[in-house]
This record gives sequence, structure tokens and C-alpha cells, in this order.
Amino acid sequence: MAGLNPNTRRFSHDAVNVENYERYRPDYAVEAVAWFVGAAGLGPGDRVVDVAAGTGKLTRRLVDAGLDVVAVEPGPAMRQRLALSLPGVRVVAAMAERLPLATGTVPAIAIAHGFHLFDVEPALAELRRVVRPGGTLGVFSNVYAPHDPVNAAVDAVIDRFLPAGKASSAVFGVWHDALTASGAFEPSDVRSFDYPHAILSGKIAALVATSSDVAALPEAAHRELLGEIEAMSARLPPEVTIAAETQVELFSRT
Ligand SMILES: C[S@@+](CC[C@H](N)C(=O)[O-])C[C@H]1O[C@@H](n2cnc3c(N)ncnc32)[C@H](O)[C@@H]1O
Repeated sequence: MAGLNPNTRRFSHDAVNVENYERYRPDYAVEAVAWFVGAAGLGPGDRVVDVAAGTGKLTRRLVDAGLDVVAVEPGPAMRQRLALSLPGVRVVAAMAERLPLATGTVPAIAIAHGFHLFDVEPALAELRRVVRPGGTLGVFSNVYAPHDPVNAAVDAVIDRFLPAGKASSAVFGVWHDALTASGAFEPSDVRSFDYPHAILSGKIAALVATSSDVAALPEAAHRELLGEIEAMSARLPPEVTIAAETQVELFSRT
């Protein structure tokens, strides 16, 4: 796939265990989705396209909010898992850089933890093409609190295996500056909603293994990293709650 960024070219989310993804990754605060729906001026039955939908964690929330959701996801295993729990949702096999959707027809697009995998410039041009003028782009992220001791302990391990800042590239990566400076969409508002993540300590390694950056490590480093996470987790209480919030950034199509 010429022109795609190195992550997209070398990494397929089908390398991630989709069952673990579905089970251990957090979904998104209901209040965050309600705020997005209100701020975007969406009503029952309005269309929203969930790009990079994965197993459908945000998709499900959008469906529950009464929207007509189209899920776009390039990974076959991810799509299959989404279809299993959301059989009524239209699922489209496509990438953000080339959306098989008509021009100027969509009132809103939602993207959760996807932008860091896109080739940002063509993706922005394509997203802008399908959103109707004045429409909304909502970027959802689950942000773990840096001061949370469990999160800090996980990041301390990850940072030894990945280049600096990689652990948080899904939320704060270079794509974010490109998006805000693009001119394709204008930042309009941002809001965060508390959304602590409760997880069995014995499953923290399985959660970490669902990160694309971790899954793409060479085999030996991958094994070593997860071994260290397991050793760290074994010293924690059986269940922990990691302080986190769902952040929603709103952009208007220019
Ligand atoms: C971290 S997951 C996020 C999934 C879901 N939105 C969620 O919040 O759980 C990123 C998803 O982006 C998909 N993806 C990767 N490259 C993409 C691209 N260029 N266009 C659209 N989706 C892409 C992957 O297959 C994966 O399912």
C-alpha cells in the first residue's frame, strides 16, 4: 500500500488477539458520547461513521445513543468480532485514506484511538471529503492518568522497550499536531469525562499486548516486555482501578 505510513504498512491489528482486545480494552464513557451527540447536533437516526472501529467499542456506544452507525474497519478479525456483537451494524472493509462513501453526505465522523495508524494527510483529505460542510469530527481517546501508580509502573516498563513517547502516541502523537494545523477541520471544543478502568491485575499484560506498538515489537522483546509486566502485576492486589478519562475533541469541517 504505497503512501501509507510505516505503522500502517508493517502492522495489522489482526496480529492482536481480538478476544483479549474486546475483553480488556476499555470502552468509552457514556457521558462522553452523549456530549459528542449533543455538541454535533445529532438526533435519533442520524448517521455517524465510526472510522477504525476495531471490535466496536465506540460503535456500540454510538448505537446505544440512537444513531445510525456505519463502522469502517480494515482488519478482517476485528470486523468479524464487531459483527458478532453488533449484527445490525453496517460494517465496511476500508481504510481512512480511502473511504467508499459518497462526498459530503455524512453529518459526523467519530474516531477512537485510530489516527496514530493513519497516513494523516490523505486520511484528513478523505475524511473532509465525506463529511458535509459544517459537519463534525469527534476524536475519542481514553487517557490514563500519568500520576496513577499502576499506569506509571506499566509505562516505566514500556518506555524501556519502545522509543520515548511511543506508549502515549495513540493520544498525543505527531498526528495530533497535523490534525489541529490541517485546515481541513477546525478545533471547536474538548471535554474530558472520568472513566476509571477496573481490571484484574493478572490481565494487565493481556491489555498491554493489545497495543499496536507492543504487538509490533520483535518476538524476543515482546516476550520480555510482557514478562516484566506480569512480574510487576503479580505484586499488585488481585484487582486494580486505574484512574483514566475519556477525552473527546471536536472539530468542525471547514
Ligand atoms: C487501537 S484500535 C481502535 C479500535 C476502536 N476504535 C476502539 O476504540 O477500540 C485501531 C484500529 O484501527 C484500525 N486501522 C489501522 N489502520 C487503519 C487505517 N489506515 N484506516 C482505518 N483503520 C485503521 C485497526 O485495524 C484497528 O482496528
